Amino acid sequence: MIAKVLLGRSVIVDIAPPIEFVGWKMATGTRVPWHDGGSNSLAQAFAKCDQELAGHIGSRKVVLTQFRPKSVAAEVAQLRWRHYLVYWSATVASRIAGGDQRNFVEMGVCDGLTAWFASRARQSSKCGGEFFLYDAWEEMRSDLLTASEASSVGSYAYLNIENTQRNLALCGDDSFVFNKGYVPESFSHSRNPESLAWIHIDLNSSMPTIASLDYFWDRLLPGGLVLLDDFAWPGYEETRVEVEKWLQSRGLDILQFPTGQALIAKR
Ligand SMILES: C[S@@+](CC[C@H](N)C(=O)[O-])C[C@H]1O[C@@H](n2cnc3c(N)ncnc32)[C@H](O)[C@@H]1O
Repeated sequence: MIAKVLLGRSVIVDIAPPIEFVGWKMATGTRVPWHDGGSNSLAQAFAKCDQELAGHIGSRKVVLTQFRPKSVAAEVAQLRWRHYLVYWSATVASRIAGGDQRNFVEMGVCDGLTAWFASRARQSSKCGGEFFLYDAWEEMRSDLLTASEASSVGSYAYLNIENTQRNLALCGDDSFVFNKGYVPESFSHSRNPESLAWIHIDLNSSMPTIASLDYFWDRLLPGGLVLLDDFAWPGYEETRVEVEKWLQSRGLDILQFPTGQALIAKR
C-alpha cells in the first residue's frame, strides 16, 4: 500500500510504508537512530535530550519565537534528524583530545534551539572549555548579504537575546559566552576562543559563513568538526557555491546529508 505524505506545506509524495520520519523536505522509511528510545548510548542520550526539550516547549518554559506558537512542537519534531546530527557531531567532537581547549562555537543562535542539543552533548561527554555563541540578535543587514540573498534583509528583527538566555539557562550549562553583534565585524570586539573542537554555522548568508570558516579553521583542533546547516538548502545556493570554493582551495572534502546539512572534519 502507498501512503500520501505531505512534505512542507504543499508538496505531496507517495511513499511505501512503514514511514519512520517526515520533516525538512524528506520522508524516510529506514529505521531512525532514536527508534524505541535508541539502541546505542549516543542515540539514547539524544532521545532523552529531545524529550526533555519537548517537555519544556510544552510547558512554555522554552520559548521558540522563530515558530508559530500553535505549531512549535510539530515544527521541532520535524527537525529531529537535523538535531540528531547536531547532537552526534557535538558528542564526537567533545571526545577528541584537548581538555579545556575543546571549546564550542555556534554562529547563528536565534532562540538557542540547536545550541540546546550541542550543550547537552557537551555536558553528557563532560567536555571542558566554553561554548561561544555568536548572533546579531537583530535584523539581517543588506551590506552583509549578496544580491541573491537580498530577500533576507530585515529577517530575525523579532529576536531578543534575553529570551535566548532564558531558554538556555534551563540547560544548566555555565559555559556559555554570548557574543552579540554582526559577523564578521563582531570578531574584533567579542571574546573569541583560541582553539575549538566543534563549530556549527547557521547564518543563512554566504559572506559571514566564509568569514567564520576563515576565522576559525586554523583554531580548530585536529579531529574537530564543522557542521554547516544551510549547505544544500534551496534559497542558499550561494553558501554552497562559496563553501565548495573554500574547500577546494584547501583540498578538503565535505559530507552532505539529506537534511541539507554538511560536515567537514579537520585531519
Ligand atoms: C537560522 S537562524 C539560526 C538558528 C539556530 N541555529 C537554531 O536552529 O536554533 C540564523 C541566525 O543567524 C543570525 N545572523 C544572520 N546573519 C548574521 C550576521 N551577519 N551576524 C550575526 N548573526 C547573524 C540571525 O540573527 C539568526 O538568529
